[in-house]
Amino acid sequence: MTTWSQTARAKGRAIGFVPTMGALHEGHLSLVKKSRGRADATVMSIFVNPAQFGPAEDLERYPRPLEADCEMARAAGCDAVFVPAATDLYPKGYCTFITVEGLDKKLCGASRPGHFRGVATIVLKLFNIVAPDIAFFGHKDAQQVVVLRRMAADLNLPVSIEVCPTVREADGLAMSSRNAYLTPAERAVAPVIYKGLNAALARYEAGERNAARLALAVETALRETTLIIKEYIEITDTTTLDPLTTVTEAALIAVACRTTESGTRLIDNLTVGGPW
Ligand code: PAJ
Repeated sequence: MTTWSQTARAKGRAIGFVPTMGALHEGHLSLVKKSRGRADATVMSIFVNPAQFGPAEDLERYPRPLEADCEMARAAGCDAVFVPAATDLYPKGYCTFITVEGLDKKLCGASRPGHFRGVATIVLKLFNIVAPDIAFFGHKDAQQVVVLRRMAADLNLPVSIEVCPTVREADGLAMSSRNAYLTPAERAVAPVIYKGLNAALARYEAGERNAARLALAVETALRETTLIIKEYIEITDTTTLDPLTTVTEAALIAVACRTTESGTRLIDNLTVGGPW
């Protein structure tokens, strides 16, 4: 992979990079499309990163349709797909990790200890191997973007990080590889999450600036079903992820919940009040 990147760079090509865990959907492919518009060569990585899964999480059953993924990546216009083995990236004796302190404990970090440490570590390793000029990430995983931007700034990484809009199913559910876990009944009601976010957005646009009342708009929609239980609804600063009481500048409205039949964790968010 490194040789490939060095060759591309020697030809003066700007490298765009789309890191993924596979089980590709239109959300992933939208990042490839963005990269193709911005860079001269696009690399996708597919690696289900053990370091970002908790002991009780879905590492073992995470979908790995590698052949179909490679075909989709090729059809979307990737110039290279990098599929490392876990034993190559974390060989025996591996013991170096990146902690983006504080940010890693907020929002999803509270219920997923070690998750963002695993994400930051693998993304830095992949950046070092692929050496991209630009890397593309989805707005859907907003905290991931905040953590990685902080890491890139703090460690003077020579890569710019671009955020791309969340791609949704026709009924508003944010696309996710984990949506495959949903039971038919859960899938049918899952759009309440985006409905709640839109209700909060409508209140914001009508002038509401009280964070608790904006959060309540999301919660009210989630209460329409018993199949989805809230983990958190938070209105935060977009850089520090600190909770806001009043929304005066750009804010992140973030939701995490869990379904009751399949126990699937779903997240979604919107930003309001300015560019992110
Ligand atoms: P994964 O969940 O496979 O997502 C790969 C990229 O696709 C991430 O940047 C994610 O935000 C983006 N993405 C996922 N669903 C999206 C959607 N509906 N719309 C737009 N973009 C979407 O995120 C990871 O993998 C991992 O943590 C990774 C960064 C690869 C590190 O292991």
